[in-house]
Amino acid sequence: MAARIIDGRQIAHEVRGEVAVRAGALVQVGVTPGLAVVLVGDDPASAVYVRSKTQAAREAAVAVFDHRLPATTSQRDLEALVDRLNQDPAVDGILVQLPLPPVLDSRAILERIRPEKDVDGFHPVNVGKLWSGGRGFVPCTPLGVMRLMASVDTPLSGADAVVVGRSNIVGKPMAALLMAADATVTVCHSRTRDLAERIARADIVVAAIGRAAMIRGDWIKTGATVIDVGMNRVDGRWMGDVEFAAAAERARALTPVPGGVGPMTIAMLLSNTVDSAENRRVE
Ligand code: GUN
Repeated sequence: MAARIIDGRQIAHEVRGEVAVRAGALVQVGVTPGLAVVLVGDDPASAVYVRSKTQAAREAAVAVFDHRLPATTSQRDLEALVDRLNQDPAVDGILVQLPLPPVLDSRAILERIRPEKDVDGFHPVNVGKLWSGGRGFVPCTPLGVMRLMASVDTPLSGADAVVVGRSNIVGKPMAALLMAADATVTVCHSRTRDLAERIARADIVVAAIGRAAMIRGDWIKTGATVIDVGMNRVDGRWMGDVEFAAAAERARALTPVPGGVGPMTIAMLLSNTVDSAENRRVE
């Protein structure tokens, strides 16, 4: 059985099209959705991500407020910027690109963003809403993964799902979303002892551990859906966390790297920003 390759670029294109229609409707009634993007320092990977985010936003009729700050920026100055963006009625979404330089207190910054503008879904209020069944902003990468799984009609209710990775950005919110969709969820990580056996039982594998080809193709259960969030640079090429070719021989559907999850993260960020602008309209 040949696995379906899930085309994240195509699905992200569809999501961005939907977002552009919704943004256009808001512009018609005088509300231009606005996204503030804050980048501190000159981490090259972060600069690439931020450029992709700002470009996609402009294409979707979302106004971008770009804030590039030097690595020497103080906690006070960054907090003052967040305060200004919180107050600015033109800003619907605030994204502070992570990681911040280590001297800065990331947690304090993320907690300072108004939850209503926290389109990354990292504020504790939004995290709490996600885990308790409320309606808040959901982190973009796991949200994109749910959309990719839906695109290939992945049965979720009662499915055995294994999430590999326990980060606040991907693993934990992914587990919450899968659980809310009635999957039975196991969260594995770098210290998990019997990873191969756990993966062998999984109907759904979401890999977000950040180690190239760490998940072997022959661990995958026949007919599983495999979503690879990993982006590992190996000899100048991007590689996922899953051994792609071998996994494709067993999976029912799987994502490539690149061209799988990556484009979805940006599309869902725009979707969250337009959600925020729509909320502003009904306030
Ligand atoms: N760094 C890596 N992924 C993300 C993300 O989704 N949002 C932000 N703000 N920073 C990140």
